[in-house]
Amino acid sequence: MSLTTDLESLESDIRSAIAGAGDERALEAVRVSALGKKGTVSERLKGLGAMTPEERKTAGPALNGLKNQIAAAIEARRAELREADLEERLKTEGLDVTLPVRPQQQGSVHPITQVLEEVIAIFADMGFAVAEGPHIETDWYNFGALNIPEEHPARQEHDTFYFNPKPDGSRLVLRTHTSPVQIRTMETAKPPIRIIAPGRTFRSDSDQTHTPMFHQVEALVLDETTHMGHLKGCLEAFCKAFFEVETVKMRFRPSHFPFTEPSMEVDIGCHWEGRELKIGEGDDWLEILGSGMVHPNVIRAGGLDPDTIQGFAFGMGIDRIAMLKYGIPDLRAFFEADLRWLRHYGFSALDMPSLAEGLSR
Ligand code: PHE
Repeated sequence: MSLTTDLESLESDIRSAIAGAGDERALEAVRVSALGKKGTVSERLKGLGAMTPEERKTAGPALNGLKNQIAAAIEARRAELREADLEERLKTEGLDVTLPVRPQQQGSVHPITQVLEEVIAIFADMGFAVAEGPHIETDWYNFGALNIPEEHPARQEHDTFYFNPKPDGSRLVLRTHTSPVQIRTMETAKPPIRIIAPGRTFRSDSDQTHTPMFHQVEALVLDETTHMGHLKGCLEAFCKAFFEVETVKMRFRPSHFPFTEPSMEVDIGCHWEGRELKIGEGDDWLEILGSGMVHPNVIRAGGLDPDTIQGFAFGMGIDRIAMLKYGIPDLRAFFEADLRWLRHYGFSALDMPSLAEGLSR
């Protein structure tokens, strides 16, 4: 075979390999097989040394020319592949600037979550910290430490969910109120104490204004000077901020709780317009909270000295104030997970309640 035919068929083989290389890795393999140390072109160049000067005169330029052309063809193909790659990436990574700024919102914030956030925003502004406690409580935290002894009628009133008795006879309970957090807080914090404790509570009770699982927010203020006037002022300030009105029709009723002395219950004026509950004027009342000055026995149970430490506590029904504020007639609907209800009463996830920007928008 003459040198020219050999080189021509070699060149056409390499060129078709270059054209067939689908990506840069395949192309690099072609380059190595032709121009690498042991490549087909390189091997032939090595053969130049063994040639006569006469042969070398024609073979030298022919081989070097082939080498340069192959190198140029490889570079050209590489540029082509990069270009195609870029095109592809621009196509798939492209941003459609005509799309809406935010995707259509699907979910919504449940009214209870909304109201919890609102309540926390208001009390945080008054200097309260947020505390928490477990849903499953011991008898001591739910009752005993709160001055509710074994035979006290309040135990029956609470419609408690009990767990099966342990071998020692003691029974855990689903907490019937958030008041156990009062004790847990006193055990860990030093006065002055100013906390709210929002959370779930449980009682075996169900009608239009009661559900077996419901929400309360507890408040506890303990120092050396806090008195009943502070309690009343705090509740009035809260109600105005929460209901976002200048005046709220409130009723303070003397009451009794084992863990406060004196005690009072607070009702909010309301009325029904057809099936809708309206807050403010009207002759109906909805009880929203129990409150009072913390009983000395409770302060003692929390490990503090009732001779120097005093203050108030209250427990408010979150679901109740949500019903009042947002005109929701039946408490049971809160927990039925009906999508139509959630879409109607839900709130935008993008609007966090804040006192500066408004609570409910
Ligand atoms: N724990 C009481 C209840 O659930 C409410 C309450 C809390 C009353 C704190 C007084 C003080 O009804």
